[in-house]
Amino acid sequence: MNIAILGAGNIGGPLGRHWAAAGHRVTFGSRDPGRLGSLVEPLGERARAAAHADAVAASEVVLLSVPHPALDGLLRQLAGPLAGKTVIDATSPIGVSDDGLFVSVLEPGVTQGSRTAERLPGAAVARAFCHFPDELLWSRGTRQPHFWGMGTACDDPGARQVTETLVRDAGFAPVHLGGLKESAALDPGGALFGYVSTAAGLRAAAGR
Ligand SMILES: NC(=O)c1ccc[n+]([C@@H]2O[C@H](COP(=O)([O-])OP(=O)(O)OC[C@H]3O[C@@H](n4cnc5c(N)ncnc54)[C@H](OP(=O)(O)O)[C@@H]3O)[C@@H](O)[C@H]2O)c1
Repeated sequence: MNIAILGAGNIGGPLGRHWAAAGHRVTFGSRDPGRLGSLVEPLGERARAAAHADAVAASEVVLLSVPHPALDGLLRQLAGPLAGKTVIDATSPIGVSDDGLFVSVLEPGVTQGSRTAERLPGAAVARAFCHFPDELLWSRGTRQPHFWGMGTACDDPGARQVTETLVRDAGFAPVHLGGLKESAALDPGGALFGYVSTAAGLRAAAGR
């Protein structure tokens, strides 16, 4: 697959390494692509860095992995070019409550997946990689491939298949939780947020 990763940081960097190693072509989208040489060069000819719009134009699958406050601006710019693509949203609308708990900053009852889908009516949106700690993405995916579970959600069957393939190609076992409206478990404050377990462990924690 041709994959654009918008936001080559803690989440986008290791996922790009996994996917390039699995044989995909990865374009890291950046505000300053010239700065990504140390990430891209070791990955060989299957990886490159580009401006966000160029990365999207070159890809049929797009990972959203920028800080959540930057997401709306990016989606406003790219909603047209993202039409027809599978868009995997890994972002987290994270806040901390007065009593120190992680909470979603979205309106009550709104999931991050539904919110992104509303902003991208022409795209097939999925959720994945959004509940899992970044520092374990490379180590768990490479040392114990397909042992650890990764929660996913999606309304579109084709995008679900693509997302589950890319979860496996990153070394994890996909756990489909249902449609985007049913994906609150993956958002901050949800049952799976920050939770690391096997596929069966994720299903049990999510009550599936
Ligand atoms: N960290 C975690 O454990 C974790 C776990 C699950 C989900 N998430 C979510 O995944 C997303 C990415 O997290 P992260 O820790 O990988 O983020 P990050 O490393 O802080 O940032 C990712 C990249 O986004 C770009 N960026 C930063 N500020 C931006 C802005 N204002 N506008 C546009 N692009 C900007 C930067 O790339 P350029 O400078 O190259 O443009 C940066 O390298 C977040 O929404 C986060 O909530 C994080």
